[in-house]
Amino acid sequence: MAAPRGEFTSRFGFLMAASGSAVGLGNIWGFPTNTASNGGAAFLFTYLLLAFALAYPALMAELIIGRHARANAVTALKSISPGRFSQLAAVGVGFVGILTVSFILSFYAIVSGWMIAFFFDPLARLIGMDSAASWLTTDAELRNSIFVVLFMVLTVSIISAGVKDGIEKWASRLMPSLIVILILLIGYVFTLPGAMDGLRAYLIPDFSRVADPALLVNAMGQAFFSLSLGVGTMLIYGSYINKQENLPVIGSLVALLDVGIAVLAGLLILPAMYVALGNGVQIYDASGGLIAGPGLIVSVLPALFNTMGAVGLFVALAFFSLMTIASLTSSISMLEVPVAYSVENLGMERRKSAVVMGSIITVISLLVVFNFDPWFDRVVSYTTEISQPLLGFAFCIFVAWIWHRNEVLQEIRQGSPDAESGLFWKIWPFYIKFICPVAILVVYFQ
Ligand code: PFF
Repeated sequence: MAAPRGEFTSRFGFLMAASGSAVGLGNIWGFPTNTASNGGAAFLFTYLLLAFALAYPALMAELIIGRHARANAVTALKSISPGRFSQLAAVGVGFVGILTVSFILSFYAIVSGWMIAFFFDPLARLIGMDSAASWLTTDAELRNSIFVVLFMVLTVSIISAGVKDGIEKWASRLMPSLIVILILLIGYVFTLPGAMDGLRAYLIPDFSRVADPALLVNAMGQAFFSLSLGVGTMLIYGSYINKQENLPVIGSLVALLDVGIAVLAGLLILPAMYVALGNGVQIYDASGGLIAGPGLIVSVLPALFNTMGAVGLFVALAFFSLMTIASLTSSISMLEVPVAYSVENLGMERRKSAVVMGSIITVISLLVVFNFDPWFDRVVSYTTEISQPLLGFAFCIFVAWIWHRNEVLQEIRQGSPDAESGLFWKIWPFYIKFICPVAILVVYFQ
């Protein structure tokens, strides 16, 4: 028989876990480079608008369903579906969510493995092991496989320990450290020549770009990926929130933390890139745009750290520990989705389930490592560009069109007794019923 369900023991614990899921590689390297290549503050402005107008309502949909049902996505969606057809659709959407998040974790683990390898590089150099350092920073299947496995072992061991002793405990330690490291790094980079040019590239708006469809699509994708939407992670975290919590308030705190840390990350990455430019490092690609994606993290920034002498070793150590922490607090939220399902619906013991699900995902990751060129980009784009927005759309439909409106209100009222007369209840139901689904589809078909 399955063990009793876990629960977050405090608001702080939930906030750290949920913002830990949201804040990840997407914030620290996706957001800043997207901003710089899409009209600077014009992108920032559009992103903030979409994050609060579309992604926050969708996040609330997941939190509300989760806390109401106190179950994984499959069971939760089924429990709010009155008819046979909607129940069938619920099971379908729940399973596609589980599959999608497992594949997201399979590519996320590869990139996170690189972060751990680059974290060990300055350590190896500090103790004079230069050949080990160069092995750590050279892209190779063996290195990638070892670090994928290491990263997944860390993820599995946190998830095995459960909601309170695993997710909440580790997120509450790691997230504050992440914020401190980020602020220290920003403070240091700001003292270096060239940093202000980066700040200008980041913050001066090019408003001619605001109506650009590509900018809208990028901003929307970024907002959905960043808030971990559509795949059941926020739903399952919502299911561990106690009934006394005010959901609209804690949902908005999660969105604020996520957006705030993305904006802070921009204050680090863009200035660092322009410092690198001043130090002779190439920061533009062949088409004249800023180098983004993996190239930024595994070549531009390490090249910058190398030009900084001994200090560079410590800056590299701080930066890659930041990246590893950001990855880990996201990966645990991903693994929790299939684990919660197998514990609750298949009666598996949590520890065993974490090992089994973690091993299956590790095998998929390793297959991608050994077939990197044909598979990696495909897995990323199927999961994040196709599956995730469609699932986000489905969640809006379930909460606004299938679930009974009174039950939704009743759930929000727990922890927020005056909800009915508040601003949230005046705006959100309309948004989630009409604006969100239409906007997701419009952007999707762009
Ligand atoms: N939000 C994470 C990031 O910005 O890197 C990525 C993510 C986490 C996506 C959890 C999906 C998910 F379920």
